[in-house]
Amino acid sequence: MTTLHDFVSADQVTPVLAAALISRARELEAGATPHLTTPYYAANLFFENSTRTHTSFEMAERRLGMTTLPFDPKQSSVTKGETLSDTLRTLAAIGVQVAVVRHPEDAYYAPLLAEHLPLHLINAGDGAGQHPSQMMLDLMTIQAEFGHFAGLKVGIVGDLSHSRVAHSDMTMLTKLGATVMFGGPAEWYTPEFAAVGPHLSMAELVPQVDVLMLLRVQLERLSGTESSGFAPAAYHAQYGLTEALYQKLGDQAIIMHPAPVNRGVELASSLVTAPKSRIFTQMHNGVFMRMAMLELVCAGD
Ligand code: CP
Repeated sequence: MTTLHDFVSADQVTPVLAAALISRARELEAGATPHLTTPYYAANLFFENSTRTHTSFEMAERRLGMTTLPFDPKQSSVTKGETLSDTLRTLAAIGVQVAVVRHPEDAYYAPLLAEHLPLHLINAGDGAGQHPSQMMLDLMTIQAEFGHFAGLKVGIVGDLSHSRVAHSDMTMLTKLGATVMFGGPAEWYTPEFAAVGPHLSMAELVPQVDVLMLLRVQLERLSGTESSGFAPAAYHAQYGLTEALYQKLGDQAIIMHPAPVNRGVELASSLVTAPKSRIFTQMHNGVFMRMAMLELVCAGD
């Protein structure tokens, strides 16, 4: 398998690498012995809140036999003005080899990569930029269902312009030959999405997709006016997956959502665990995919 020193973006992933990571994640799920043979120390630096990505990386690190050092930005010298680069250099100096970072700033990792920091960096989400581990676990989930990507129709619906999941997933799914279409409020369907696929109503989209990927409306990223004017019930009626629309999905179709879910907004609360929902399967897959990603960045050491 190709090695990557750092894993920060969909742009680094070729179809061959994606297939190799999915295959390795499945091996690890089946109980394969981790490739890491020397002790590894990791730190997870989350400057934005997280349930899934943080705990999933920590579980992945533990399952690989890594030691994870706790790091809470609010208890650290970040509060005294320490830069992210200096925090990472400090961790590297005390022996941390892998840093998993979530940060609100788009592409926060770009200047860090230019510095060639002496540890591996994995991007756990940057602002509205990229979310490569979510992308890879989404690919793993889709591959398990359909066995391929070429020719699949994937509808990505919701808060597109603020979504790092939309950015990563549309890039990689297109690379793999899937047809990507979009739904949700037209103001979030910006030119970068128009360059990838059409914008459709839910009535047009739902009956034809193999994968319906619903995105959380990220109220924390909306402007003050957007956020105060947001009407959850109206959004659900126009852009959400209602129980009635669920019946229009094809027999083969699945529902995905990176979560956390706004129940009753992106989809009816009853549909979160509906037969076509793979939301908790995505989370399960995420542990093994993150193990494969951690192995990958360490493989060149
Ligand atoms: N999907 C995802 O990134 O969830 P968290 O924000 O809880 O990590």
